[in-house]
Amino acid sequence: MKEETAGVRVVDARLKQEEAELDTTLRPQSFAEYVGQADIKTSLLIAIQAAQGRSEALDHILLFGPPGLGKTTLAHIIAHSMGGGLRVTSGSAIERPGDLAAILTNLNAGDILFIDEIHRLGRQVEEVLYSAMEDFAIDVVIGKGPSARSIRLDLPKFTLIGATTRAGALSSPLRDRFGATYRLDFYKEIDIQKILDRSARILKIKLPATQAALIAAASRRTPRTANRLLKRIRDFAQVHNQGIISEEIIRRALNLMGVEANGLDSVDRKILSGIVERFQGGPVGLSALAAAIAEEKQTIEEVYEPYLLQAGFINRTAQGRVATKSAYQHLNLIPPLPDKAPPALFK
Ligand SMILES: Nc1ncnc2c1ncn2[C@@H]1O[C@H](COP(=O)(O)OP(=O)(O)OP(=O)(O)O)[C@@H](O)[C@H]1O
Ligand SMILES: [Mg+2]
Repeated sequence: MKEETAGVRVVDARLKQEEAELDTTLRPQSFAEYVGQADIKTSLLIAIQAAQGRSEALDHILLFGPPGLGKTTLAHIIAHSMGGGLRVTSGSAIERPGDLAAILTNLNAGDILFIDEIHRLGRQVEEVLYSAMEDFAIDVVIGKGPSARSIRLDLPKFTLIGATTRAGALSSPLRDRFGATYRLDFYKEIDIQKILDRSARILKIKLPATQAALIAAASRRTPRTANRLLKRIRDFAQVHNQGIISEEIIRRALNLMGVEANGLDSVDRKILSGIVERFQGGPVGLSALAAAIAEEKQTIEEVYEPYLLQAGFINRTAQGRVATKSAYQHLNLIPPLPDKAPPALFK
């Protein structure tokens, strides 16, 4: 059972501790290597060129989108292109305003400060960030009690890049202070194939195009998941097929991992059948659904739901999630007739 659970979650695109090294090995270093997301790349390249032309720091940038789509990678590439230093931290690591002040006062002009999971910053820390972002200055309180006084410290002109999987969790004053916000979307399947090609080359794996297409189809259009599947399938091929990745080997490996050809796994099925069977197809709120299928709300919302929405298995309405016709078909069920459609009066 335990082993099954470990395998089943292979489509969970959140970074797993043990694969951090793989993530780094395969991380593109330049815009040229960064596949897909053409609009974001174009717009960033213009912004970078313009800032460099004026010898100014780049505007603060907010990157948001589901896990594993390339936010951290993009932040590294931006820093590299700007030629400044990069300081990486995360919302949960900065506990007190003093922690943030220490980081900010150690930056040099033109540096990039990357704050991952920026939605996790505490309220007080966030307030320090406001003036840092807007005025490049912070107010620090020195001393305690009646003798305490506040002094203003000027900061070098830096660029903040914030990343979050949950743009909705960000307060609006913080959101408003970013000069540009980019939403990373799921990749086109053809782009995932290119990413797989590149990864296969780096890892010295022989991956024919047909096989790359099969893995891409199961990747939930997410680079991290695609790379993870490639690595697991390579291992499987090594043990069962002298390292040759055949179509048959891919099918068997996916099957063992509990992943369907279209990338859905048992949790997706639980979500779909939960909506269909427990809530008559919806609409159902997130909390009720999470309780009914015994999954964490956050996992459903951040990891599973974005892909189910994108792939057209569920819709979100003001009343909650509803299962689409594709969801019924996927579960081999007959979709109900639309009961709210106006009666056909005239034929
Ligand atoms: N556009 C891309 N081209 C090629 N590879 C990519 C691309 N985007 C991401 N990857 C690969 O996917 C991996 C995960 O990307 P990254 O760590 O940037 O995701 P993330 O959005 O920061 O995820 P998280 O929300 O978990 O922090 C990278 O190590 C890289 O190998
Ligand atoms: Mg990241």
